[in-house]
Amino acid sequence: MGDLDAVVHDATEVATATGDLQSDDPAAIVGDGAVAVVDGEVAAVGPTDEITREYPPENATHPVDATGRAVIPGYVDSHTHALFAGDRSDEFEAKLRGTTYGELLAEGGGIHRTVEATRAASDAELLGNLLGQLDVMAVHGTTTVEVKSGYGLDAETELRMLDVIDRADDRHPVDVVPTFMGAHAVPRDYDGSGDPADADDYVDRVVSEQLPAVEEQGVAEFCDVFCDEGAFTVEQSRRVLEAGRERGLTPKVHAEELAHRGGTKLAAEVDAASADHLLHATDEDVQSLLDADVTPVLLPGTAFGLGADYADGRAMVDAGAPVAVSTDFNPNCHSQSVGFASALACVEMGLTPAEALVAGTRNGARALDRDDRGAIREDAAGDLVVLDAPSHVHVPYSYGVNRVATVLKGGDLVVGPGSDEGLPTRDGGEPDA
Ligand code: NIG
Ligand code: FE
Repeated sequence: MGDLDAVVHDATEVATATGDLQSDDPAAIVGDGAVAVVDGEVAAVGPTDEITREYPPENATHPVDATGRAVIPGYVDSHTHALFAGDRSDEFEAKLRGTTYGELLAEGGGIHRTVEATRAASDAELLGNLLGQLDVMAVHGTTTVEVKSGYGLDAETELRMLDVIDRADDRHPVDVVPTFMGAHAVPRDYDGSGDPADADDYVDRVVSEQLPAVEEQGVAEFCDVFCDEGAFTVEQSRRVLEAGRERGLTPKVHAEELAHRGGTKLAAEVDAASADHLLHATDEDVQSLLDADVTPVLLPGTAFGLGADYADGRAMVDAGAPVAVSTDFNPNCHSQSVGFASALACVEMGLTPAEALVAGTRNGARALDRDDRGAIREDAAGDLVVLDAPSHVHVPYSYGVNRVATVLKGGDLVVGPGSDEGLPTRDGGEPDA
């Protein structure tokens, strides 16, 4: 046997998240359960007496007594814009007074303000910001997160963002998946003049300047576009995604968030990994995603912050779709908590807590083409979260409260008593050894 990194034992339940959303038991719970992690991967999951006989906790680097607690997979947050500079809390207030997201963007606020602040920030400042966000995510149980560029809107800053994302991945225990999103907005201008750039001309620049440089840099894995009212048309989006595909980047689409523009069907046509937001998606759209095996990603935190109607997650699950739930963490949707997104998915979209669990873990991994994580089964990544609660239901039930007590990433203790990673740790609970 290799190194016995961790044995988590005597959990009230191990919610393995190995079931499909459409099955009777998506959470696929093992009662009075234990998990052993060897060489970073799950070696065994099952009843505590069986697992601890073969893998005695005292032989593990991290023995974790989970008496009275539930174990779930680490969250896979498949959609964030977590790297940025500046502060847009005043726009939160403006939105509460009735200003819309589209109005803020059209007036040069929203994404444009973050672009200005991000361009002006040093690499060190950007890296510090992202590492800080990853700490917060880890404390909330996220062990893999996708982070998009898209606050540069010029080749230099887009590449700088991707480089910082890559360095943060090296430095932080949370795995970071890099996405290029040069087509996040049409920049206000190219030269500080304030004259709006032309969308087609900007798409030319994304395709002929940014994408070749992004390919050469070799960091980005996905290419995303904001296909929406006030952003890019379907045809412009298609150009970017097809050019990205030629450069080795898998497409993703921000689709039908502010209005119905056809981004969902585009996602199906270009064989995207995911179509995200989907507030205005129709049944036909959802069927096209199913037919093309594109993962629908629900971002209920965004609808919450916008005061918008939620995507119909219940209908999508009933139609057979493997929906994911993620945070969309960004300056317009300032929550890093997949747990909070899960609560919204239950209360506002009609998912069950077990469905929300699978959507936030295994299906998040699906949206990132990573089937090696997001569920607790043999050979999957040893990314585990111990809750200070007896069941996974307590995550959405405790809305607004973080129930994450301990986080193991690849079998290493990164959050919780005894953690040595220098992340913030929570008090309470028993020491691990
Ligand atoms: O997914 N909709 C486009 N992009 C982000 C918002 C980014 C921002 O407002 O800074 C989103 O909601
Ligand atoms: Fe987004």
